[in-house]
Amino acid sequence: MLEARAAVRNLHAYRPPLAGRQGLRLDFNESTVGCSPRVLAKLRSLDAEVLARYPEREPVEGDVADFLGLDVAQVLLTNGVDEGIHLLCSTYLDPGDEAIIVAPTFAMYAIFAQAEGARVVHILSGENFVFPLQELLSQISARTRLIAVANPNNPTGSAVACETLLQVAQAAPQAALLVDEAYFEFHGETILDHIDQPANLFVARTLSKAYGLAGLRIGILAGDARQMAVVRRVASPYNVNAVALAVLPEALRDHEYVKHYVDEVQRGRELLEQELRTLGLHYWPSRANFVLVRVGPAHTEFVHELRSRGILIRDRDSDPGCEGCVRLTVGSSKHTRILINALRDVVGQLAEHPEVRA
Ligand SMILES: Cc1ncc(COP(=O)(O)O)c(C=O)c1O
Repeated sequence: MLEARAAVRNLHAYRPPLAGRQGLRLDFNESTVGCSPRVLAKLRSLDAEVLARYPEREPVEGDVADFLGLDVAQVLLTNGVDEGIHLLCSTYLDPGDEAIIVAPTFAMYAIFAQAEGARVVHILSGENFVFPLQELLSQISARTRLIAVANPNNPTGSAVACETLLQVAQAAPQAALLVDEAYFEFHGETILDHIDQPANLFVARTLSKAYGLAGLRIGILAGDARQMAVVRRVASPYNVNAVALAVLPEALRDHEYVKHYVDEVQRGRELLEQELRTLGLHYWPSRANFVLVRVGPAHTEFVHELRSRGILIRDRDSDPGCEGCVRLTVGSSKHTRILINALRDVVGQLAEHPEVRA
């Protein structure tokens, strides 16, 4: 058995619960209706030649740059946002450097940073998951080379103002600030307009959520053109596969489809939050396509009861500050109605349980 690098030996295996996901999947913040029919039609039209050739990423980067109003040199397509995070960690983190993350948040920032041998500085969110700006600023050091912020954040759904993020970028010019906008479409606010300045700002987007293409693995990393040229050196020229590249422009062109879905999610989010109030369950107002809810010590039973009704949700009890919490993805109107009915049923059933807050 070969010995892995110490940084890798020390990593905990991250195994999201992907097995046996039959039913209504409200556990991974995916789209519940899938991609646009125009994307599927394009997919079906592909021939053997598309698959025989190595994929050419750059022309599609041009389409994406136009879509975002950026220069092509500012854009790199990645194998999901996950790869964008990985590339930033490989580009900027030496062993012993520091990566700052605000907890609780998306797991992959810490994993990729630790894999480079960096020290991860976890800063706990404030009460009600308020962004801990002062605490973060006080933790920036000469060794801080990466700061990763999901905006809106996963699993809390909370968002932070662009001005606050710009303050962070300015306070740490020696560090890459990654603003991960995986849930941008459901929030509607972006820091992308500032991509030219400050030069240490990077923005990530994904087609895994609002576009319903998690299985194709398409992410977008944007940043200052000079920085992006450096990040590009670390990426494989074939990191995004030919099928993904072939359908991506069509996915972006079908604005109507995505808009319609996002509208349904935003309305559903309101309905769900209203229902949670009625049920007496504590939740945090969300800017994303999911809501974090505190159900108390019976969180395992709660997840189990919904699963037995064909609905998968995610237990977030082990995330810092999320004791007794579950995360519910908001999908189409129809799927939200199904979720709400099941929630009423489960809360009613568990009300007998002395420890459930319902
Ligand atoms: C904040 C955040 N960033 C990135 C991702 C992963 O995105 P992708 O599928 O593009 O790798 C997720 C997925 O849950 C996420 O919550």
